[in-house]
Amino acid sequence: MQAHVNGITITYNDRGTGLPLVFLHAFPLNRSMWAQQEDALFSQFRIITIDLRGHGESDAPLWRYTLEQSADDVCALLDRLSIQQAIFTGLSMGGYILFAFYRKYATRVKGLILADTKAQADTAEGKEGRFQMAQTAYKKGPSAIADIMLPKLLSPTTIQTNPDLARHVRAMIEGNQISGIPGDLMAMAERPDSVPLLNQITCPTQIIVGELDQATPPSDAKLMADHIPNARLTIIPHAAHLSNLEQPERFNQIVAALASELRKPTDQDTT
Ligand code: MLT
Repeated sequence: MQAHVNGITITYNDRGTGLPLVFLHAFPLNRSMWAQQEDALFSQFRIITIDLRGHGESDAPLWRYTLEQSADDVCALLDRLSIQQAIFTGLSMGGYILFAFYRKYATRVKGLILADTKAQADTAEGKEGRFQMAQTAYKKGPSAIADIMLPKLLSPTTIQTNPDLARHVRAMIEGNQISGIPGDLMAMAERPDSVPLLNQITCPTQIIVGELDQATPPSDAKLMADHIPNARLTIIPHAAHLSNLEQPERFNQIVAALASELRKPTDQDTT
């Protein structure tokens, strides 16, 4: 499905009825990373997965990208779908966007699931790495980015034993238009420190991290859990950065548990 918001076309899936669950993907992937969550959960909830600006089948304008702009796109899409409140799941960059979303639109957030993400801003070294990766994307194209990113996203065991998954992740990366990749990298490099926001998050929050995640390790997840009032933390064994793809059943159970708790009888009929 497609919607025209904030001057661009955004592509999304909208399946099921009841309490809306909105899923925001990682860099540099697309909404298909949530296929197993969508398939498992749409019979109980309304599942919205979105190709963020610069990704998949959404427009990737050759212009300035910010995480706040992506948050605005999500909010505009929800307005279009007449969704007032939802439970939001964001993995990695999707989590960074959720911090931006919460800053502006906290009343729209019924619950938060922060997966394999972190609250801290980039270090100077991290920003330099973003710059280098943007140059690689420009000079060599998305497949060079896939070569760099795959070992950061999946555990060595997953890459060895689940080649179909590794191929799927590579295809998502290679399917991006080149303009979106440096756009994201600049947006992430410029994102503010969200640690001061954490103790202002008042909605029910679940934090998830793969035990083998090296990009945003369990120590980053613990920091969020320590600062967000009453947040729960679950560490998923045998998963690295893309915990929803490496251990989908466990991931789905955790999402379904929070969503079931927050669902009221009236959510069966309303959005
Ligand atoms: C992601 O998975 O979205 C990225 O690893 C986030 C990042 O590069 O900070």
